[in-house]
Amino acid sequence: MRVLTELPALDAAEREHLERMHALVRAEVEARGEAIPFSRYMEIALYAPRLGYYRAGWRTFGARGDFVTAPEVSPLFGRTVARQVEQALSLIGEREVIEIGAGAGTLAARMVAELVPRGGVRYRILELSGAMAARQREAIAARAPDALASVSWIDALPEPGFRGVVLANEVVDALPVERFEVTAGGVSMHHVGFEAGRPIWESRPADPRLAEAVESIQHEVGHVLPAGYVSEIGPARCAWAASIAERVERGLVLLMDYGYPRRELYHPDRRAGTLQCHFRHRAHGNPLVRCGLQDITAHVDFTALARAAGLDVAGFTTQGEFLLGCGLLDPAVGVAPGSPEFVRLTTEIKRLTLPGEMGEAIKVMALTRGIEDPLIGFSGRDHRVRL
Ligand SMILES: C[S@@+](CC[C@H](N)C(=O)[O-])C[C@H]1O[C@@H](n2cnc3c(N)ncnc32)[C@H](O)[C@@H]1O
Repeated sequence: MRVLTELPALDAAEREHLERMHALVRAEVEARGEAIPFSRYMEIALYAPRLGYYRAGWRTFGARGDFVTAPEVSPLFGRTVARQVEQALSLIGEREVIEIGAGAGTLAARMVAELVPRGGVRYRILELSGAMAARQREAIAARAPDALASVSWIDALPEPGFRGVVLANEVVDALPVERFEVTAGGVSMHHVGFEAGRPIWESRPADPRLAEAVESIQHEVGHVLPAGYVSEIGPARCAWAASIAERVERGLVLLMDYGYPRRELYHPDRRAGTLQCHFRHRAHGNPLVRCGLQDITAHVDFTALARAAGLDVAGFTTQGEFLLGCGLLDPAVGVAPGSPEFVRLTTEIKRLTLPGEMGEAIKVMALTRGIEDPLIGFSGRDHRVRL
């Protein structure tokens, strides 16, 4: 991922799209008569019907898109995650899987290709975006046609009583967050207004709920955060985790995402927060440009998610250790060293596991109810003490 020097220019269709997004933001600011919270801006930019980044049908993922996720790096990712899912399904005694936010459908296609032949699995995808759901169906039809009949799309979580596995890869970091700033006089909340034809930052005193949340973060991390410290907080993410947990009667919720335990996320040295935008493989920190044309993410507070869910935390580790625990290296056994196959496998394994690649920045958390046995993906070092 290149770090921003200069963003590529927009073509005519993108410029027109940007104008429409600006009109949406402006209309909302005018209707409220004041700047909108950053979380609302992020929601519009990513999820506004037909226009938001995930709903407009842009290329989004892969070499021709804006960023690459682990399932796009290698089929080994889905194949290895499927082993964890298979173990959990056999412990639960049900063959029900729900994937939330399946993106381009690459992980789903690989998962059903692995799971369906081992015995009928019902694989449901909860996807917010119709454009994404269409792409997922295409991906599965092309790469796992025999399994397509086992897949269906849902637009809400099932009723309580679910028994099975829920998984979400790089979904939580795309759920809206609030942005706060510690000031000499207290805590302020970043809002987005509209001026001279574009969205602009505005600052407002934090509402008591947010100020209290920031207060409790400071208390927990054991540091007074310095004036000028900016970061994000995700109440909507906690509500999301709680709503999943309350549906699960017996099962595993597997969350994989960029993020940290709370004490590390809000380390006093991380003074500018973790907001990251991706536009054609350029990473930068300004969510107010390219509205609706770029991804916007913020790292996940895994401690907050675990607490909000209230399930057993059966495991917390890095992506690299998780995949190795699930047998990532097995496909390389017996492959002749130096052969093109060996080179391909080792290159992909390195990208998925090395700390400088995706191996450490992405964490994996297993939340369970009614599962006592240890999960294979967490057989390496136990990182739960960091939560
Ligand atoms: C970064 S992409 C995830 C990519 C995919 N899981 C992968 O591994 O390549 C985020 C996905 O989550 C979807 N999404 C975001 N919020 C959602 C929600 N509340 N419920 C369901 N899907 C959601 C988006 O439309 C998009 O498909």
